Amino acid sequence: MSLGADRSYKMKLRDVENAFKYRRIPYPKRSVELIALLAISCTFFLFMHTNKLNSRLKEMEVKLQPSEFSALGLTSNHVSGHDAGKHDDINTLHGTYQYLKSTGQLVDLVPVRLNNTPKAEREFVFFNRIEKTGSQSMTRLINQLGLLNGYETFRNVIQPKRAMTENFEEQREFVHQLTELSEPSVYVEHANWVNFTVHDMPRPIYINLVRHPIEKVISAYYYLRHPKIVGQSVRRNPNKIVQDKTYYDMKFNDCVKQRISPHCVFDAHNRFNGDWRRFALKLCGNAQICEQLNSEATMQMAKMHVEREYSVVGTWEETNITLAVLEAYIPRFFAGATKVYYSQTKKFTVNTTPHDNSLDEEVERYLKDSFKFELELYQFIMQRLYMQYIAINKNQFMDTPI
Ligand SMILES: *[C@@H]1O[C@H](CO)[C@@H](O)[C@H](O)[C@H]1NC(C)=O
Ligand SMILES: *[C@@H]1O[C@H](CO)[C@@H](O)[C@H](O)[C@H]1NC(C)=O
Repeated sequence: MSLGADRSYKMKLRDVENAFKYRRIPYPKRSVELIALLAISCTFFLFMHTNKLNSRLKEMEVKLQPSEFSALGLTSNHVSGHDAGKHDDINTLHGTYQYLKSTGQLVDLVPVRLNNTPKAEREFVFFNRIEKTGSQSMTRLINQLGLLNGYETFRNVIQPKRAMTENFEEQREFVHQLTELSEPSVYVEHANWVNFTVHDMPRPIYINLVRHPIEKVISAYYYLRHPKIVGQSVRRNPNKIVQDKTYYDMKFNDCVKQRISPHCVFDAHNRFNGDWRRFALKLCGNAQICEQLNSEATMQMAKMHVEREYSVVGTWEETNITLAVLEAYIPRFFAGATKVYYSQTKKFTVNTTPHDNSLDEEVERYLKDSFKFELELYQFIMQRLYMQYIAINKNQFMDTPI
């Protein structure tokens, strides 16, 4: 009893307990009956202790070659889709399919090779959601699917002042807290990728969402200036300085052109670059190299995690493909996702702030350069998603060339 009480106190410290908006059953649950029941019903629960002696994070940084983690076996020069004129742009479903076909890779493309779900050691999905990618909509969908597929959804509150990365002890405590959650369940938080194995805890099913990096940055800019969000952050942090109207009304394009606010300067010296405008950090993790802005090493680490750790990294830009891939690769949690989504699309489209997306040429050039590796990571993720989709629909593709 005392141990359980102690742990639940720690959960409260992180504000988790009160934030379990979607919780239906009291936490923590230590019922022996439930554990027994779970043990019987967990057909999905596969242990795959491969005990690979992989090199440590630091060594990895040195060893990674630009082409090592490229979903299609391409070097970064090819990933950008410059060849679009010559043949199909490979950064589309059609282009990816054509590329796989022409290089003979299609023959060996089977879902099992792209499926990281069996590596999970627990019926537990860890969705370390990335800001401004539509993760709230996905969280709602996950919660709804929980009713259908029989699992719980937990989420944490957004912590106003959190460090860019967590130290070993913080990660350890976090991982231990998550291990206390009932199974099967999904946990959603704005957190960096964590290696559960390092902390001797069972590995979860990792999922995430991304969005075109430049659109994401623009969206983040307008989100931060939206009256509702400004109000919210003032309530959370009463010392927050409220700016004048011109600040909130300024267009992103003008802000970047004039480099007028730290939110519009994208270099490593700007302390705001530790914030939530990029996803390499979250997919890379808490290692020091993950903190670098627009860094090749960070990108490579993130790519490796996408390839070897994440079951699915999807995007609302390809809603149908993402839902189909989630259903196919994580059926225990996502069976029926497409049907449920299209039955109540409005309900699962939340937290959008309409804004002007147009950019001057010089601004666009500056952004493309500032987010070079972020863009490459994004394209890598899209190619992997398309491959996962093609793998499950191979026969269909072969019958009717799209
Ligand atoms: C996670 O940690 C384990 C144990 O230290 C290690 O073997 C494994 O390579 C790590 N995984 C990644 C992706 O870093
Ligand atoms: C996505 O799926 C829905 C429902 O099946 C369908 O109505 C829609 O046309 C599809 N959209 C695309 C872009 O394929």
